[in-house]
Amino acid sequence: MRDHRGSSEFVLTDRDFERIRERVYRIAGISLSDAKRTLVVSRLTKIVRALRLSGFSAYIDHLEAGARAEDEQDFVNALTTNLTRFFREDHHFDHLESFVAGLVARPLRYGRGGRPRLRIWSAGCSTGQEPYTVAMSLLAAFPDLRRWDFRILATDIDTNVLAKAQTGMYPASEVSGLSAQRAKLFDRSAVGEVVVPEAARDLVAFRMLNLIGEWPMKGPFDAILCRNVAIYFDKPTQGRLFDRLGTMLAPDGFLYIGHSENLQAVSEGYRLVGKTIYQLKTNPAQKDAA
Ligand SMILES: C[S@@+](CC[C@H](N)C(=O)[O-])C[C@H]1O[C@@H](n2cnc3c(N)ncnc32)[C@H](O)[C@@H]1O
Repeated sequence: MRDHRGSSEFVLTDRDFERIRERVYRIAGISLSDAKRTLVVSRLTKIVRALRLSGFSAYIDHLEAGARAEDEQDFVNALTTNLTRFFREDHHFDHLESFVAGLVARPLRYGRGGRPRLRIWSAGCSTGQEPYTVAMSLLAAFPDLRRWDFRILATDIDTNVLAKAQTGMYPASEVSGLSAQRAKLFDRSAVGEVVVPEAARDLVAFRMLNLIGEWPMKGPFDAILCRNVAIYFDKPTQGRLFDRLGTMLAPDGFLYIGHSENLQAVSEGYRLVGKTIYQLKTNPAQKDAA
């Protein structure tokens, strides 16, 4: 048996690692490779200590015996990877802007109060930089959207990142790599943090949602960003997720995925229309073009 103790006082046995792997896969669809063993030890050690348990075996026994909902949630929160940033993979935001320019010229759907409707879903939004980038860049490009029935749904399974996202406040270092034009989109707090302006924050609704669980919303969404989330899933789980996302996407809408992801091997319903940008094959405009 290998000793994956690292700086932890607890030993992670092969059997306990298997139990943890099985559990996070069952709950969140996340597949943990062997390379993640050290990470699992460091992330879960703090929890095992806080619960004053004797080690990982006792911890998993505790979870399996039907722990409190917050203990279950802490387990999942600890095992997600939340790396993100403003304007990450920025060609997607350029593409989204040109798509929305077309909708502004000729709205396709109408919503509340008979206003033109625009719905965007950031699925796996982490600490909020992705949905806020959508909100700030679209509002800057199309001030008229303030009068639209425009909402951005931002979901994640990790309740800690959602709480951070809700604040709309970030350290100044978050914008240090951005162009002056993009950095100007943010307000500043008295102590120098960057703050997402209220008009952009008002557009975004953050919700806890497990992508392999129930989805309470109806759609359709004009655009879905599901970027750098499915990389943590195995191929069958990815296939089911992208097929389901297709049922939420408007026929003329776009799906944006992460730079290292590819739908070709996992879902047959889409065609590639740009770099990591997809549309449904059922899109009538695409059929005409084909
Ligand atoms: C690496 S972040 C990606 C953030 C952002 N989309 C981006 O590309 O910058 C992946 C996010 O997916 C979330 N996630 C993982 N499994 C999930 C699941 N089953 N349901 C919902 N979100 C999940 C994680 O909590 C994490 O915040």
